[in-house]
Amino acid sequence: MTVGHFISGKAKLAGVMGWPISHSRSPRLHGFWLRQYGIDGAYVPLAVEPERAEQAIRALPALGFRGCNVTVPLKEIAFRTVDRLDQTARRMGAVNTIVVAEDGALEGGNTDGFGFIENLRAEQPDWTAERGPAVVIGAGGAARAVVVALLDAGAPEVRLVNRTRARAEELAADLAAVGLNGGVTVVDWVSRETALDGASLLVNTTTQGMAGQPALDLSLRALPVSAVVNDIVYVPLETPLLAEAKARGNPVAGGIGMLLHQARPGFKAWFGVEPQVTPELTRFVLEG
Ligand code: ATR
Repeated sequence: MTVGHFISGKAKLAGVMGWPISHSRSPRLHGFWLRQYGIDGAYVPLAVEPERAEQAIRALPALGFRGCNVTVPLKEIAFRTVDRLDQTARRMGAVNTIVVAEDGALEGGNTDGFGFIENLRAEQPDWTAERGPAVVIGAGGAARAVVVALLDAGAPEVRLVNRTRARAEELAADLAAVGLNGGVTVVDWVSRETALDGASLLVNTTTQGMAGQPALDLSLRALPVSAVVNDIVYVPLETPLLAEAKARGNPVAGGIGMLLHQARPGFKAWFGVEPQVTPELTRFVLEG
């Protein structure tokens, strides 16, 4: 908690828009960087209900905001509202970062996939997407970002496994519609354990393993010990999946880094500094 914060009349403004927003760690994350780099700026939580999100997004230039992050459940509304979309946002079907351009236009991007890949590279520098098939568990918004990022990074095959097969098929069809029509194989939930055979990466994008939720129901028996295991859940930092992977000798990557790295492009665009992800930042964000 920071009480009595002084913001000058010249402060560069950005924030995070979502509903609800009080749980968001982004103000803490950007606030740490603003202080670290001595920037006259402010990054504020913007609690905006879905019915008013379009209006709020359109108001950003008039309010003098340089842009904002967008989080659940407003990423698709942002996608439909911005004036221009970059290629990544178009592929994701969702916008998580808005930048107000020089001409006042709203530019929408999506940095979730970037955050995912950068975190993997930071945690496991030897990992490359080209190394072999990746298994992605889940078919929600997070899975979509992960699958697009893996295909863009050169993964030869993504095995998409979801409890509800139809949702995985829908995601594969959506990706085909935006030109990503190679490399995704939909696997039945009952076959999830055989899908691990020969994989070089396993990613959990479901909510299973999160504090208060049961562990992901998945035996790692068929997974090569060389495969990297990444859980995008970060509360707790070590999920049951990561603990099991570690115990059997797999290299692992946690989920908090994805959140930290996805924030970098927005911060650079709004405040003009390329920020670094450090252990101090990670600790500070987790304390909040
Ligand atoms: P997000 O957009 O953050 O990814 P989501 O859209 O709610 O969140 O997706 C949650 C994912 O967790 C889904 O893939 C969901 O599977 P279903 O499509 O079958 O619902 C998955 N999930 C949730 N509870 C699960 C459980 N008990 N076992 C397996 N998968 C589960």
